[in-house]
Amino acid sequence: GGISTTRCNAVSSRAEVSELADIDWDNIGFGLKPTDYMYVMKCNIDGEFSNGELQRFGNIEVSPSAGVLNYGQGLFEGLKAYRKKDGSNILLFRPEENAIRMRNGAERMCMPAPTIEQFVEAVKKTVLANKRWVPPSGKGSLYVRPLLMGTGAVLGLAPAPEYTFLIYVSPVGNYFKEGVAPINLIVESEFHRATPGGTGGVKTIGNYAAVLKAQSIAKAKGYSDVLYLDCVYNRFLEEVSSCNIFIVKDNVISTPEIKGTILPGITRKSIIDVARTQGFQVEERNVTVDELLEADEVFCTGTAVVVSPVGSITYKGKRVSYGEGTFGTVSKQLYTVLTSLQMGLSEDNMKWTVN
Ligand code: COI
Repeated sequence: GGISTTRCNAVSSRAEVSELADIDWDNIGFGLKPTDYMYVMKCNIDGEFSNGELQRFGNIEVSPSAGVLNYGQGLFEGLKAYRKKDGSNILLFRPEENAIRMRNGAERMCMPAPTIEQFVEAVKKTVLANKRWVPPSGKGSLYVRPLLMGTGAVLGLAPAPEYTFLIYVSPVGNYFKEGVAPINLIVESEFHRATPGGTGGVKTIGNYAAVLKAQSIAKAKGYSDVLYLDCVYNRFLEEVSSCNIFIVKDNVISTPEIKGTILPGITRKSIIDVARTQGFQVEERNVTVDELLEADEVFCTGTAVVVSPVGSITYKGKRVSYGEGTFGTVSKQLYTVLTSLQMGLSEDNMKWTVN
């Protein structure tokens, strides 16, 4: 009994690191598998980041009064590293895009952010230090998770006086438990993810806490996730909790436009470019829930989910199914072109991968 005087902030207890030999590369899934190193860089009072270093992966110590803990002053990013087929090389997919998005988010959240060069350098260092955790080609990828957080102490509501940029990595496979099988979504008509003027367009941590309730209700009913509608008309598609949404009708591809309430996905943007290069007409515009229900194909995009086919949508108790429990023709084509680029299986004529 009594109050324990043991410090509970042990840094880098090696027991937390998973054993490489224990990983079943054919069934990695999307859970955290702690790896060897993380990257930590702090910023001074002038908002400049410096002296970043690799540390053994482990718990971090922050003030109970840290801005990130008290007022949600935090951002995260997500990108992937792939091992090339011949094992020679590791490819990063568009890391500078994540750097730019973190800088935009930091501006919205009143935080200083690393420069694009600092961000990309740090990602490269972290991936190389954890090279042995990059899955074999075709088995998955090393998911890279950069964080930016207000770690300085505050009590009154104000930006934190100090910030920490941190990167950790984990080998990952398929995001949804369905694997590559189509997912079943329910259109959410009670809860909303974002509001005009809010933070829905940046990757702030609070956006992801806000969707957990609807997601858990949906999962309890057997759905894979929730598709959000706009909060003004409750009629236009926004995004799924963790990914963007696309519809295909008569070979025309449409996706909600970026207007501050949806996350500007890097996979979203890449798929739009890939689709246009493949000769498809792509429209970024308001997409109604009625159009969704009448689409030929529906799919989601995201770093974690890559391109995931949607097998059914349920809206106001009515379920509409797409396809035959497989990828649609258009989404399969886009998936193949994108992942071939990401994995270095085809010539990178888009100049998107970084060694
Ligand atoms: C990603 O796709 O990388 C994300 O950030 C989504 C996350 C909720 C897993």
